[in-house]
Amino acid sequence: MTPPVPTGPARWGLAGRLLAGIGLVMVAGAITAWAVATQVGPAVFHEHMVRAGLDDHDEAVLHAEEAFRSAGTMALGFALAAAGLASLAVSLVLTRRIGHSLASLSAAAARLGTGRYDSRVPSPTMGREFDDLAEAFNQMAARLQDGERLRARLLGDVAHEVRTPVATITAYLEAVEDGVQDLDAATVTLLRDQATRLTRLSDDLAAVTRAESGDLALDRRPVAPGDLVTAALAAARERAADRGVRLAADVADGLPDVDVDRLRLAQVLDNLVANALRHTPPEGTVTLRASLATDGHVALSVHDTGEGIAPEHLPHLFERFYRADTARDRARGGSGIGLAICQALVHAHDGTLGVTSPGPGGGSTFTVTLPRA
Ligand SMILES: Nc1ncnc2c1ncn2[C@@H]1O[C@H](COP(=O)(O)OP(=O)(O)OP(=O)(O)O)[C@@H](O)[C@H]1O
Ligand SMILES: [Mg+2]
Repeated sequence: MTPPVPTGPARWGLAGRLLAGIGLVMVAGAITAWAVATQVGPAVFHEHMVRAGLDDHDEAVLHAEEAFRSAGTMALGFALAAAGLASLAVSLVLTRRIGHSLASLSAAAARLGTGRYDSRVPSPTMGREFDDLAEAFNQMAARLQDGERLRARLLGDVAHEVRTPVATITAYLEAVEDGVQDLDAATVTLLRDQATRLTRLSDDLAAVTRAESGDLALDRRPVAPGDLVTAALAAARERAADRGVRLAADVADGLPDVDVDRLRLAQVLDNLVANALRHTPPEGTVTLRASLATDGHVALSVHDTGEGIAPEHLPHLFERFYRADTARDRARGGSGIGLAICQALVHAHDGTLGVTSPGPGGGSTFTVTLPRA
């Protein structure tokens, strides 16, 4: 609902308001000065004349009093005129400068409203308050621009991810319809795999959106870090054995409990371990560690002796759809959302998720830090 458009004085411009304000001050000043000049001043003057020993009705006294009155009136008149002119000038200058700054701000806001997220306002050089306003506006515009950029990229990525399986399914169905391809067990498996890939993509997108929007219901309770490590190892045992990768655990003694949703944290560790297994060749080792972080938080890390990650990829790994080795990672079934989901889940627990790697061939370590219970 749009608010009602104000009418009457509420519609007055800045110049009108400023002049009205200054006019009020001048009227109050003039009334006070006039009252003092006509009522108090002459009486005081008269009393001093009498005290000085002059006669009340003396011609000189009457003249002097008359002169005092007209001098007072003249001084008052000039002062009022000068004050009036000065306030007019001041309000005009101020109105022009403030009006100019506000006009550029509202023009920028209007541009922003039409989707031009690159619009910014220059510093108005009108003092701290105006600079703060301009800076707040520019920050808001920059955030909107980032959001817009992310949205555009996300849509492109989703379209890209959906295209391949849908194209495969369509091609196979057409081939079956044309009698070129039999609907044998292998074809059904292939079609089902593609459908599963689409289902997983939509599940992952829903998960990351829910986690990032912050309306994820977390059932947080104190949990021993060692229990989380044991559960993650148990869940990965079969897959590690299949790949010929060794699993190890290293839990420090006397760790405090962490305040987490056990199932969500298991999801994070499962994702990290799945990545580690996928990027570690047979004979390699994946180690889960629980230790005390320097800031009193508890650190859970997943370390592998696998491929490692080149430094230029490290800052981007937690972005949605980012894959370091696009072709190979996609072939291995990854859509690049896993780490974005992990990060959103860890942030929902007021924790952090980071990665270190000495580079290709050097293995990598993903570390979750969590506040203690
Ligand atoms: N342990 C690791 N060693 C080397 N590279 C890794 C490791 N973990 C993640 N990566 C790199 O980070 C990228 C992003 O990981 P992420 O889990 O977000 O996506 P994914 O595993 O490719 O797909 P998804 O998890 O959505 O199935 C991976 O594609 C891979 O290139
Ligand atoms: Mg993954």
